[in-house]
Formats: sequence, structure tokens, C-alpha cells
Amino acid sequence: MTLDEKVSLTAGVDDWHTATIERMGVGPVKMTDGPNGARGATRADGESLTPSLCIPSGSALGATWDPAAVARASGAVARQAREKGAQVLLAPTVNLHRHPLWGRNFESFSEDPLLCGTLAAAYIRAVQEHQVIATVKHLVCNETEHERRMCSSEVDERTLRELYLLPFEFAVREADVQAVMTSYNRTNGHYLADDARVLAEILRGEWGFTGIVMTDWWALISTVEAAEAGLDIEMPGPGRGFGPALGKAVKSGAARESWVDDKVRRLLTVYHRVGALDDPLEADEHPMDRSEDRAVARQVAAAAMVLLKNDGDLLPLSPGAGQRVALIGPGAQSLATMGGGSARVVPHYELSLTDVLRHRLGDRAEVVFEPGCQIATQPRQTADDLGPEGIARAVRLAASSDVAIVVVGTNSFWESEGYDRVSMELPGRQADLVDQVLEANPRTVVVLNTGSPVALPFGGRAPALLQCWFGGQELANALVDVLLGDAEPGGRLPITLPERLEHTPAYGNFPSESSIVHYGEGQLVGYRWYDARHLPVAFPFGHGLSYTTMTFSRARASSTVLAAGGTIDIQVEVENIGARAGSEVVQVYVAPPGGGRLAPGARLRPVKALKGFAKVHLAAGEKGTVTVTLNERSFAYYDVADADWFAIIERLHGHAPDARHGLHRTEPGWYLDSGSYEVLIGRSSADICERLVVEVEGNPKPLPATAPVG
Ligand code: BGC
Repeated sequence: MTLDEKVSLTAGVDDWHTATIERMGVGPVKMTDGPNGARGATRADGESLTPSLCIPSGSALGATWDPAAVARASGAVARQAREKGAQVLLAPTVNLHRHPLWGRNFESFSEDPLLCGTLAAAYIRAVQEHQVIATVKHLVCNETEHERRMCSSEVDERTLRELYLLPFEFAVREADVQAVMTSYNRTNGHYLADDARVLAEILRGEWGFTGIVMTDWWALISTVEAAEAGLDIEMPGPGRGFGPALGKAVKSGAARESWVDDKVRRLLTVYHRVGALDDPLEADEHPMDRSEDRAVARQVAAAAMVLLKNDGDLLPLSPGAGQRVALIGPGAQSLATMGGGSARVVPHYELSLTDVLRHRLGDRAEVVFEPGCQIATQPRQTADDLGPEGIARAVRLAASSDVAIVVVGTNSFWESEGYDRVSMELPGRQADLVDQVLEANPRTVVVLNTGSPVALPFGGRAPALLQCWFGGQELANALVDVLLGDAEPGGRLPITLPERLEHTPAYGNFPSESSIVHYGEGQLVGYRWYDARHLPVAFPFGHGLSYTTMTFSRARASSTVLAAGGTIDIQVEVENIGARAGSEVVQVYVAPPGGGRLAPGARLRPVKALKGFAKVHLAAGEKGTVTVTLNERSFAYYDVADADWFAIIERLHGHAPDARHGLHRTEPGWYLDSGSYEVLIGRSSADICERLVVEVEGNPKPLPATAPVG
């Protein structure tokens, strides 16, 4: 290949395609957005040209706590990507829910890096099994939209390793992801596309990544720095920093041709792995609307729904003959099935909740509907608020019905890429609507149709609260399945629902100020924060009720001592003692000795952190044994090392009376400290049912880089 041919491969040619080199038989490779559908090619306004299957959004997938369910959903998206002629899917998003108001929380799985990483690995494996390259994004610390192209996320190295890089490490080491997208933001002052320490040392060096690194759209600001750091392709095209500009840099001697050769080798190897070079897909988009894909989307949407509260077993509903069900709220008029921005797709069809419920109940019961109030659905739209006449009508309807279902929340305008939310309050008059309906009819089910937390001033009074997320195109069907008990609400919270915004970990450090976002809460993200500060929450991480009752018993460990290089199986028996089939999520947390920083020089550790989980499905009366495997990383922490300390001690000529305090090392890495660690087995971060103790023998050396991620 000539230099010009080679550099042509390092930039896109348009929004979605890479370059063609006909004489070498290198055809264009097409990319498409995810993560909740294969968007395909787009018009200038970002709208898809052809419809797509729309699966539940990231936070809903996170709520399934079920890698198998996530894989079924992402596999269906990958099939659609191929039907849209695309070999590269720009998904999954694995940034963390650091603050409730980030506009893209809905796209991301969780506040917890292990839950996020485990589900991302499942998502990626299923995509790549379909001969589609998955692209894990956005590397790294892309947790705000405000000034997203300029701001720098200032984060300490230990937090970076233990939280924000961890899902990417899972994606590379557990799922062999073939593409990584760099983020818009800077991290510690560096654009990731230029950052050799992350791209070359950590991603390729430590984790053994063999795939390609691409920019987020229009995110490249350099040529030589990014070329040397290991970026492979600038998107979209035509290239500004790469492509011909990179050729020019090589000719001038500013960049090396060997760097370009490495990029071309990596790009072609990855394209070859999915057959993109020998078997170009049809250029036209032919998405299929298949019943089996609909079924997957529907099952996963139900498996994601979190029953937050169910006083007096109001749910599931079984309206009897002649009864009246009131459907109320803007969400009842039009369910929000996805968030806004690049994740938006045009679904194959839209369903009306009222129609679906009417159809399902048939002559059995009457379904009446009243929106009560309305919220904006697009920018600059003044919500056509129905005013006090609106709420009063809804209240009258609720009062004259046997049961009311109020669906409130946000939509793809309120939760979107490109901007953050400004408040956790429900938009418009929805909180007022819920209040008044609850007053009028105590048999009211409140359904929360959001991608991230909203304030719940009525939470204490609502007898039944159901979080249904942005559940994808089948949300209406799945919601009716759950409301009527034809499916169970299988989800558990992948995030903490805070009591107040002011209690949240990043409050005061969000959004950016003078283009800096301080990750001041360090490792204390999500439940780690509320645990450490003893703060009340609305609903804890991991919480979710069921229509049946499960008990945990006979917890045991395969060994009480963690041997070097070893693993420990934690087992617990789960029994469904209720009258219905159902599922339970067994959550395994590790609590390091001391419960945080107690002694001088000891390091801060979260009170407990999730280190494994398993979802089990049991018929009524059935018993099952669940196994979760812990490894060395489950007990380890990242030590950034402290070489300066030794130099300082030397310069003090030994006059350092406090030199005995603390642990100072010269080599950074993952370390294990000796001690008795508690293994906590529970159904949420606040509901621990069983406790075990594991003895860990510390090691003065860091764990080998090959030690399994955990
Ligand atoms: C988003 C990416 C997306 C890309 C292409 C960017 O604005 O941040 O997640 O893949 O656009 O649409």
C-alpha cells in the first residue's frame, strides 16, 4: 500500500463509513450507533433512515442484573446492525452514573463498576458472536454533558483504576472487545485520543487489547500526539487530524510511517475478524421486524422493572368483572421508550399503553384515561400544560375508579445526550398530579418512566411504586405484563435512588466549573458514599421487591482462606416459599477489615463493595443453590505507589519519627492486605441476609497483570 492509501484508512469518509481501496479489495466498513438499537445511516438531523428494533436503554439493562438477558437483547441489536449493512456497533456505553443529572445516565448501566463491567462484557460477547465489532465507549470519565468537549475530569489514579477504568478492563479482558471509543472530555488535562499512558500503557500494555481505538465524533484535536499515542481512526470523515493530514505529518518527518503501519495492521485485522473484507454487506438497509426480537425486547423490559414498593400487595392487579381502571399521567398517554441523542432510534412501531391494557382486559374491566398534565417532548416547546381544569379531571376519574395507575417521568427531551438535567424534580406538574390522585384514590400504583432518578416527594404515601425505565419499543406490553402479574418485575436497582440531590456523592462537584469537573468524592460513588456517610436514601442500590418470597440460607465458602492465585466459591441456598414463580438476585459484597479508614496510615476502603452477583429463577416451592466466585481482585485495592516518600525519608537522614505509619510502596499495582474480610450476601446494599468471614494473606508484591479481573 502507498502511504496515501494507508492513511486513508485512518479516517472515515463520511458520517458512518471508512475508506475503500479498490485495488487491494478493501471495501468500506459501516458503523452504526447503539446502544439500544442499531440506528443505521442518519439524516442531517440525526434521525434514522430506516426503523430499528428498540431494546430497553442502558439503565434498564443494568436493572436486569442478568448477563444472559443483556446478551439476548444485544444479540438482537447486532443482527439488526448487519441488516443495516453495518459491521461496527457503537455500543455499549460504560460510563458510570456518578451524578443523577448526567444527561446520558439512561444509556449507561450502573453506578457500580463491577455490575457495569459484567453486563458490558455480556453485551459485547453477544454482539461479537454475531460477527459485529462492539465498541465500548467513552474512554474515560465521560460523566457530564455540560462543556463535554472541553472539560477535564480531574480524578485520582486509584479511583480511575478501581471505578472508571474497571468496566473498560472487563470489556477488554473478559469479552475481547474489538473497538474502544475515546471520550469528548479530557481526563486529568489530557484528551484520551492523545493519551499514550492510557492507550499504550494501560489498554494495550497491561490489558492486552488487540483491537482498534477510534475517536468520538469530531473529538480529535491533534495529529502527531494521537498518532503516537495509538489512536487508529478518526471519525467521522473526512479526516481533519488523521487521513491526509497524517500523511503530511509523515512526509514532513513529524510522524513515523511505522505508526501508520501499526494502525493499518490493527484496522485490517479487526475488519478481517468479522469478515468485513471478504464479505461486504449489502449497502442498503433491510431491517427486519421479527416476532422473536419483539419477544426478547418484551421479556427484557419486564426483567428490568423494579418494584420499589408494594404495600398490601396492591400489585399485581386483578381487576374483576365490571371494575374500572384509571390510567393517568403524561406517560400513560405516551410512554418514553428511549432517551435522546445518538442512542435514539426510530422503532418499528409505537404502542399505546391504553390500547394495550384495554386489549388485554377486554370485557373484563373498563379502562379510562386522562393525562392530567403534559410535559415538553422537544426543545423550545412550551408544554401544553392542561392546567388545574387537567389535574381535576384526572382526580375525578381516579376517585370514581377501583384502581388508578399514574405513569409519570421524563422522556427523550428531558434525558438526552448533549445537555444535563437541571433538577431531579419531575418535569411540569406531575408531582402535584400524583399527590392529588393519591389523595383521591389510595389504591394508586405510581409508575416511574425515567432513565435515572427523580425526586419522589410522594414516595412515602404511594402504596405501590414501579420503576419501568426507558423500556424500549415493547415497554407498553411489558408494563401490562407486570401490572397484571403475567410477568414478574424482575429488576433490582442498578443505582441508588437518593432522598435529596444535596445528599448525592458528586453534589458540589457537578457539572464543570472553569472547564474542570473534580471527582472529589473519589471512590465513594453511589452506595459506597451513602454507606460511608450513613446517609438515608429513598431506595438503596440493589433493591427490588418480588411477587413471591425468597429466603436465603446455609451460606458457605469453599474455603475460609484465600490462597495466592486462588478463588473462593460463595454458595447460598435460595428458596421460593411463595405461591408464584419468580427470580432473585443474590448480591455478594466484600467488606474490608475495619470498615473504612480507622487507623492512622490505613487507607480508605469502601465499607463494602459489590464483588459478584447471580440471578436465579425459581418455581413456587423450588429451592436452588447459587454460586458466586470471588478472586484476588475481589479483595484487592490499587496502590498508586509513593516513590517520593522513600526519597524524602532518605533526605531526612532517618529523622522521621512517623516513618513507621502507613504502607508506602515503590511499585504501583493491585495489592492484597492481610486480614479478616467479611463476605456479605444480600438482596440489596441495605439488606444483608448472610455473613461469612474469609482470611486473606497479604502479599508485599502486586498481583500479576494476568490475575483475573474482579
Ligand atoms: C456520541 C457517541 C456516538 C457518536 C456517533 C457522539 O455524539 O457521543 O456515543 O457514538 O456521536 O453518533
